[in-house]
Amino acid sequence: MCGIVGAVSERDVHGILLEGLRRLEYRGYDSAGMAVRQADGSINRAREVGKVSALADFVEQNPCKGPLGIAHTRWATHGEPSQINAHPHMSGERLAIVHNGIIENYQELREALMAEGFEFTSQTDTEVVVHLIEKEYRVAGNVLQAVRAAIAQLRGAYALAVLHADEPDHLVVCREGSPLVIGVGIGEHFIASDQLALLPVTDRFMFLEEGDLADIRRDGVTIWDREGTPVERVVTRFEHGIDSADKGEFRHYMLKEIYEQPKVIKATMEGRITDRRVLEQALGTGANELLADVRHVQIIACGTSYHAGMVARYWIEELAGIACSVEVASEYRYRKHVIQPDTLFLCISQSGETADTLAALRQAKQAGFRAALAICNVPGSSLVRESDLVIMTHAGPEIGVASTKAFTTQLVSLLIFTLALARHNGLSEEREADIVTALHQLPGQIDDALALDGKIAELSRAFIDKNHSLFLGRGAMYPVAMEGALKLKEISYIHAEAYPAGELKHGPLALVDSEMPVVTVAPNNELLEKLKSNLEEVRARGGELFVFADGDAELKEQPGIHVMQIPGVHSITAPIVYTLPLQLLSYHVAVLKGTDVDQPRNLAKSVTVE
Ligand code: F6R
Repeated sequence: MCGIVGAVSERDVHGILLEGLRRLEYRGYDSAGMAVRQADGSINRAREVGKVSALADFVEQNPCKGPLGIAHTRWATHGEPSQINAHPHMSGERLAIVHNGIIENYQELREALMAEGFEFTSQTDTEVVVHLIEKEYRVAGNVLQAVRAAIAQLRGAYALAVLHADEPDHLVVCREGSPLVIGVGIGEHFIASDQLALLPVTDRFMFLEEGDLADIRRDGVTIWDREGTPVERVVTRFEHGIDSADKGEFRHYMLKEIYEQPKVIKATMEGRITDRRVLEQALGTGANELLADVRHVQIIACGTSYHAGMVARYWIEELAGIACSVEVASEYRYRKHVIQPDTLFLCISQSGETADTLAALRQAKQAGFRAALAICNVPGSSLVRESDLVIMTHAGPEIGVASTKAFTTQLVSLLIFTLALARHNGLSEEREADIVTALHQLPGQIDDALALDGKIAELSRAFIDKNHSLFLGRGAMYPVAMEGALKLKEISYIHAEAYPAGELKHGPLALVDSEMPVVTVAPNNELLEKLKSNLEEVRARGGELFVFADGDAELKEQPGIHVMQIPGVHSITAPIVYTLPLQLLSYHVAVLKGTDVDQPRNLAKSVTVE
């Protein structure tokens, strides 16, 4: 989604703002802009459509320098991507704001402000906010009071940063439903919608809570909560090195993140399992006692995280014998549900800021669930702060829009969770030891899967002139096929649909011909024989098959059937290992097609609006 950066310093901040925007570009990227208070007391605003590099080129020719500034990358919600709709927005020449989120009552506010003589130049909901603050400033005479009065009239989600040319010593910021973090420097302070934006200038952060308003100065920060009471927010240190946010020797973040999986999977398991068991305290204090009471699990997530939840359902029902439902958050939040007694509410989210997932969690907290558990990758995110229990995935910053290492570390976390739950429900020590051993084997097996990179790159050539594709799997490999299809469509723009292989003959078989590549994940499990007959159905219709299969599966390479052998893996951990070749396949197809791998069109990394 949109990204915000701001700085209050003694030095010129335009370079800090630009670098921050570059680091936020992965969140949303149809236009970018900045506003800086210059030495002569005026505000200089620059806005460009396209990538941050376009803005950087512009400010190189037209300097935009000063010690106080705000900046923004936009992902259009109200109004097309254009210079006029890009942030910062201004009211007159002295007041500028950047905004992340959506103002729901913007239409009525806009009409009221127009009736009072405010002139609108954009189609955005944000422009309503800047005029509203200006209106209140005329009454209050200072920005802090004006912002406080203005936000009391807003409905919706927002993170705002406000700069006034007549108050050169500070920024005023606030959050309600959209993330905002304060970076603590020495004699300077920064703000951003994501701590990654500020890593070149600080590693110390304060996370604002819902309803917080803050006054950001060079020498200090004052924060008030929703009731207007001054509050302290703890300063935390960023745990991962600054390099974790750089591409290193890799051509794209996505490829770097695919290759990081052996390392981050190890990190996710560390301190949670011994050589044979899941540790009692693996999920934190009190978790074990809670799990003993759990009779149902309700999983909520979006996109890739939803697919992780779908895999977990197979594990939870098989190993723990506990009923598990999985639903996408955007659907769940808008329907009536029946909640069984002792149901655990489990949210999965890489960012911890996905608007629909957070909304579902907030509803759930009122709805009588036993407790809320989050599986999340971003410490300090709203999801982490608002859940009763948390399993952090330790994947490190994920920059590529297409989720890769976040997915596999979610799966590892979910499997550890399942084992902890299953132990209370009759899982034998032997079975637990068998699966924990399989977990320990994962980093090596993923290295083996990565070794197929060159062959998969070759295979990917068959996809570049195709417009459609099918992905098949059975059992827990069906959600893996869904994830493979999502990866391919989001970065290569090839239409990809996933089906449980047994559903083929109930409709999609009609689509199969020589122009329809069919990708299949076929570990050597109890469904293999059934899957083989499904593949025959495809072959008989002239469909070209790309099968990722266990070496023992006895699937032979022949005309129309390309077989990529995956080293043997445990049937429970197979969904994790088989994800890798599908990630590599979509990556190479996208590279061959020349799409923007890390920042695919129309998508944003962190979907903080509905
Ligand atoms: C796809 C992808 C998205 C996210 C979804 C949820 O590659 O990344 O589908 O998985 O937007 O995001 P989180 O996990 O941050 O809640």
